[in-house]
Amino acid sequence: MRVGVLGCGTVGSALVELVQREAGTIFERTGVRLDVTRVAVRHVARPRAVSLAPGVVTADAGAVVTDPRVDVVVELMGGTEPARTLVLDALKAGKPVVTANKQLLAVHGAELFEAASAAGVDLLYEAAVAGAIPLIRPLRESLAGERISRVMGIVNGTTNYILTRMSEGGAAYPDALAEAQALGYAEADPTADVEGFDASAKAAILATIAFGVQVVADDVHREGITAVTPGDIAFAARLGYVVKLLAVAEAVGDQVAVRVHPAMVPVTHPLAAVRDAFNAVFIEGEAVGELMLYGRGAGGLPTASAVLGDLIDAAHNLQVGGRGRTATRSRAAVRPMAELSSQYYLNINVVDRPGVLAAVATVFGDHGVSIRSMEQEGLGEEARLVFITHKATERDVQATLADLRHLDAVERVGSLLRVVGQE
Ligand SMILES: NC(=O)c1ccc[n+]([C@@H]2O[C@H](COP(=O)([O-])OP(=O)(O)OC[C@H]3O[C@@H](n4cnc5c(N)ncnc54)[C@H](OP(=O)(O)O)[C@@H]3O)[C@@H](O)[C@H]2O)c1
Repeated sequence: MRVGVLGCGTVGSALVELVQREAGTIFERTGVRLDVTRVAVRHVARPRAVSLAPGVVTADAGAVVTDPRVDVVVELMGGTEPARTLVLDALKAGKPVVTANKQLLAVHGAELFEAASAAGVDLLYEAAVAGAIPLIRPLRESLAGERISRVMGIVNGTTNYILTRMSEGGAAYPDALAEAQALGYAEADPTADVEGFDASAKAAILATIAFGVQVVADDVHREGITAVTPGDIAFAARLGYVVKLLAVAEAVGDQVAVRVHPAMVPVTHPLAAVRDAFNAVFIEGEAVGELMLYGRGAGGLPTASAVLGDLIDAAHNLQVGGRGRTATRSRAAVRPMAELSSQYYLNINVVDRPGVLAAVATVFGDHGVSIRSMEQEGLGEEARLVFITHKATERDVQATLADLRHLDAVERVGSLLRVVGQE
């Protein structure tokens, strides 16, 4: 099976290295002989981590797709264009495609899967969510008959690293971010990670597979971690919680709800133990009960390992003249965030004078939000009230916050965190 690889950066070069190193073993185990015949990059002259024979590398990605010496295409360039056009062209030419590009799938998934279906070839993407962790295939195949109620994941290693440094090292957000950047976990522009865009794209893909309906990134309620303070994390710890950026996809009646936001997770929950840049996905199903898959969500070789598994599958299916299991999916009915219920943590800075507590409590009461616990931290100008609510709807809590912002006695409304994982 002759393989054309689009992109030879962190993941592409690791994939080429693995194919070169493991081709013999892969053939013995699977009967599939892989050979990387063409590789597209942007800068042909740039030194690469792998050695490639003359004539293999080109700057013309389109030529790799149309090359008759390429049977299977692996897209590892990233971004939506030209990746979308190249993947469509490959599929239309009857060539299976493997990709690790969550952004591409979250935005153009429907169009691409339709093209794969029309051409009768595979479009596989195990590495697009939680890098090395086998997640897509278990969801699609092992759990194909399972009625899944919820999928909750730590699917962004950068933010998990930052939150781990903040909770274990007491670091402030900017210092933890700078550390993540120095270690190569965070980009110079960290927006996609810290504002939850990356996790939202992955949440959309996870929800699509788990619930068999088509969910896109715009369906996902998204909040990042930039407003989380060391104070929030310390308070959560005192109450027995860890703060994590979670992607949560759940079935609510005949709708699905998909969201990404920082959450307080009980220390006893398996997701609370997922530290540093690791990822994990916790699955709850009617018959299967609880499952957790854990591993590295990024990095060249770990991600390439997942790509290689797909590549062997796609090549094998092509060899035997078939394709993997597919499904036609209708557009998801999405439950709006405002209608979801949760327990909430919120904190507000107030002036320290008589009657303030009563005024604040009245606002909660007006919106039917019941307070489970309240603590005052600090005195005078530093006075801060910290609340945990009983279960309330997002709509009521947001209305409470809006009214609190208008109270004279309230100087600042701080973080809002949902309590997840102890229902
Ligand atoms: N890195 C990870 O840990 C990880 C984990 C999971 C998923 N992914 C996904 O894997 C994909 C690749 O990520 P990466 O980290 O390997 O990216 P990367 O290191 O930036 O590599 C991208 C490669 O694509 C090439 N390229 C970009 N645009 C091109 C064009 N128009 N024509 C030809 N070649 C082009 C680049 O060429 P030059 O080298 O010449 O610039 C480079 O070799 C992305 O979709 C990413 O989201 C990555």
